[in-house]
Amino acid sequence: MKTIIEPFRIKSVEPIRMTSVEQRRQILRDTHYNLFAVRSQDVLIDLLTDSGTSAMSSEQWAAIMRGDESYAGSPSFERFEAAVRELMPFKHVIPTHQGRAAEAILFSIVGGAGKKIPSNTHFDTTRGNIEATGAQAVDLLIEEGKDPSNLHPFKGNLDLDKLEAFLAANAASVPCVMITVTNNAGGGQPVSLANIQAVSEIARRYGKPFFIDGCRFAENAWFIKVREPGQASRSIPDIVREMFAVADGMTMSAKKDAFANIGGWLAVNDDELARTAKNRLILTEGFTSYGGLAGRDLEAIAQGLKEVVDEDYLQYRVRANTYIGERLTAGGVPIVLPVGGHAVFIDAGALLAHIPALQYPGQALAVALYEAGGIRSCEIGSVMFGRQPDGSEKPAAMELVRLAIPRRVYTQSHADYLIEVILEVAGRKQSLDGMRIEWEPKSLRHFTARFTRT
Ligand code: F0G
Repeated sequence: MKTIIEPFRIKSVEPIRMTSVEQRRQILRDTHYNLFAVRSQDVLIDLLTDSGTSAMSSEQWAAIMRGDESYAGSPSFERFEAAVRELMPFKHVIPTHQGRAAEAILFSIVGGAGKKIPSNTHFDTTRGNIEATGAQAVDLLIEEGKDPSNLHPFKGNLDLDKLEAFLAANAASVPCVMITVTNNAGGGQPVSLANIQAVSEIARRYGKPFFIDGCRFAENAWFIKVREPGQASRSIPDIVREMFAVADGMTMSAKKDAFANIGGWLAVNDDELARTAKNRLILTEGFTSYGGLAGRDLEAIAQGLKEVVDEDYLQYRVRANTYIGERLTAGGVPIVLPVGGHAVFIDAGALLAHIPALQYPGQALAVALYEAGGIRSCEIGSVMFGRQPDGSEKPAAMELVRLAIPRRVYTQSHADYLIEVILEVAGRKQSLDGMRIEWEPKSLRHFTARFTRT
């Protein structure tokens, strides 16, 4: 059969509350046009994030009942640790309440003033945690990854020449090399196995530990299987193991490719680093066998890790996003191509070419999609990245709107409604105005900034 169906049926449902355009206009005024301030009951289709928004399986809910809430020595921790190490064979697995907690612990140890940490593209919390220690987060993405219409199969790859040159010039100040799979900030684009291995080899040559931000490791492995020469016949767990075999550690948000609503971990091979990290964990998160999570959360992650590497699931997952992308492309809406693993990214800079970057075309589009159809999306452009550490403002590399697709949550008719809303807004794009920021906090301004229309 040609039709790729959702490889699950639905056992429990959550009603969606309908709202009118008029109501949504009022909500936008009340929330100063910041979609993070909108109540989720006032959203029809919530594509703000794919993080922590997965539908859990019946097996995960069953596992939750098995959760052992002992402070120390819980079998839930053992099952969690075994499930992680089945795919990512690191010596020490340190649970945290989510990905950024793992980042905060890692960079509080290896970061610090004067340090520089290269990656393909750091995600915003990773960047925030690096910069909070006084270190610099450096993005060395391949040029193809910055061009929304370039069809390169692995647009998340780290530029190996740039990494060589960077390490040659800065070796003394680099504590580690990182790579993010998939590259969320750059459009959910995958990194090839060959690139991961080459980055690891270069890092090793300079004596630098290599860490993977593995949030969407399974989606990345799927792209390796279907796009990288010689990988088609391999199993997903096999590919995952090979991705992580060449790393010295990883940070992870279990809220993505583990189908959990909360959780994460830091994993490392180095005993000394693990000792220091566990001490910090006890101070800030909790004891080493639960790290800010309940035993039941560890169980949900352990079961989720088994489900996320299923090929039927991954095929459906990527196909569902590609379907949205194809329909938008056919309707003349510019998107980041090829469609990535967890989201469809609209190129708002190209769609709303009449709005200058520092009048935030991405924010203008996100607001218009909410107003027209109750769709909540997320600007990934100059609102998110424009403010520089020195206080100046400059346009981001791309002005994108991310439609992040929660895992196993929405059906194809939700996708068809979404497509209809976007095409309707795109059809009257000239009527959309830019936005102005009225107030913003000192960092991570996109979460709380207040906007007005220009
Ligand atoms: N790294 C990447 C690549 C991410 O996408 C995220 C979170 C994190 C780290 C941090 O993990 O949320 O568990 O603390 N991304 C979410 C998103 C928030 O919407 O893309 P966390």
